Amino acid sequence: MTIDILPDTRESPAGNPDYRDSGLVFDTVFVIGSATASYQIEGAVTADGRGPSIWDTFSATPGAIVNGDTGEVADDHYNRLEDDLDLMAELGLEAYRFSIAWPRIQPLGSGAVNEAGLDFYGRLVDGLLDRGIRPIATLYHWDLPQALEDAGGWTNRETAYRFAEYTRIVATELGDRVQVWTTLNEPWCSAFLGYGSGAHAPGRTSGADALAAMHHLNLAHGLAVQVLREVVPNAEVSVTLNFHVIRGDDETSPQAIRRIDALANRSFTGPMLAGGYPADLIADTADVTDWSFVHAGDAAIIHQPLDFLGVNYYSTARVRMWNGTSPRENADGHKDVGGSPWPGSLDVEFLTQDGPFTAMGWNIAPDGLEELLVSLSSQFPELPLMITENGAAFDDEVVGGRVLDVERLDYLRRHFTAAHRAIGRGVDLRGYLVWSLLDNFEWGYGYSKRFGIVHVDYETQQRTVKDSGRWLSRLIRSHAIPE
Ligand code: FCB
Repeated sequence: MTIDILPDTRESPAGNPDYRDSGLVFDTVFVIGSATASYQIEGAVTADGRGPSIWDTFSATPGAIVNGDTGEVADDHYNRLEDDLDLMAELGLEAYRFSIAWPRIQPLGSGAVNEAGLDFYGRLVDGLLDRGIRPIATLYHWDLPQALEDAGGWTNRETAYRFAEYTRIVATELGDRVQVWTTLNEPWCSAFLGYGSGAHAPGRTSGADALAAMHHLNLAHGLAVQVLREVVPNAEVSVTLNFHVIRGDDETSPQAIRRIDALANRSFTGPMLAGGYPADLIADTADVTDWSFVHAGDAAIIHQPLDFLGVNYYSTARVRMWNGTSPRENADGHKDVGGSPWPGSLDVEFLTQDGPFTAMGWNIAPDGLEELLVSLSSQFPELPLMITENGAAFDDEVVGGRVLDVERLDYLRRHFTAAHRAIGRGVDLRGYLVWSLLDNFEWGYGYSKRFGIVHVDYETQQRTVKDSGRWLSRLIRSHAIPE
């Protein structure tokens, strides 16, 4: 079956008329596909020997997730693998970015290997290759084995070494078939939402713990890259970061921007790509931690050559220093659960931005994507980039077998245009993976936010390709932004 676009029967939403180009052509080597993550789609959390992860524990905690949702069933992708692979082929995906659930491979996070878990990902990879879809494997998209969290989680340096062992197991098994590897997805979220604000699993709320977790994630990345180079000689190795594109508001903004850029962006690009932590980050957080978690030799381990950098982008942030008297705005785009993901910078204020907005309340700003890509390419001129996530949540409905998600289609059109403009400005951008293939478990928001280009009815598990999915399919087949 070939999926084609149906005509729009609704008007485009109002908004910035820019970035709505059509007909722009992408090079044939530019890879266009879609992305998911294990805990968000697989379900089957106790099947075939999988151990519990921090997200199983966290989502069972009353009040942690909207509607008390959990990943127990999710999209039941684990049991519907073949159908979902067929769906990817129907859409014409050139690449599929998925993540591997560590607790399926090592139920206790160390030691014994669960062959059934390896088999599942083997079948997934074979199924992709059979259909001509390039697998892009992420080793860690947040589902830490609970047993490791019980031993301190990412605040424990040992977790980085366990991650290297797990990487070796997976790379040894799949390295003959998977060439493109990503160590970590958005380690900022793992560290600062998981251990700082408490919005994500494991739900801890300590600035010092968040910074220790950040460092051990950096260390885990470096160790994993070394393992991948050793085990998979032709591997293309990357990491995916969620860059914060930060804008200003008044004369205090330059300081606020510098602080948030240090915590959100340079905390990872510094050690991974430039060889060390920024001095201003260490100074800004001196009252929170003494940084004794950094050991001699760590910098060299973390600073590994990469083949490309994965970029996740959704929207921008606007900041200034809080004046201490007016009500403090906290619109940083992350779920507000009381704790802060900004240790040492609690006096930075995140302002509500201009719309239009997605269902997440995130402002739609394709210019931010162009700006980010151009900026990264000038900071790291030797490093190719790939958009490993971009997409939008809207309140979709199936009407007469069809999902008219004109807002998402418009969002994607504008962000593909932004990517094309960045390429035109000399950025070495290798591909674009839309988040997400399927509606899924959106972390603290549970199933209340739909990001898919394919709708999932959670009662019946029926999949319905949305208009945005049909549009993407057309884009992939022509390699040009459709009318
Ligand atoms: C990113 C995550 C991804 C998804 C999108 C909306 O931060 O990597 O799993 O939740 O946001």
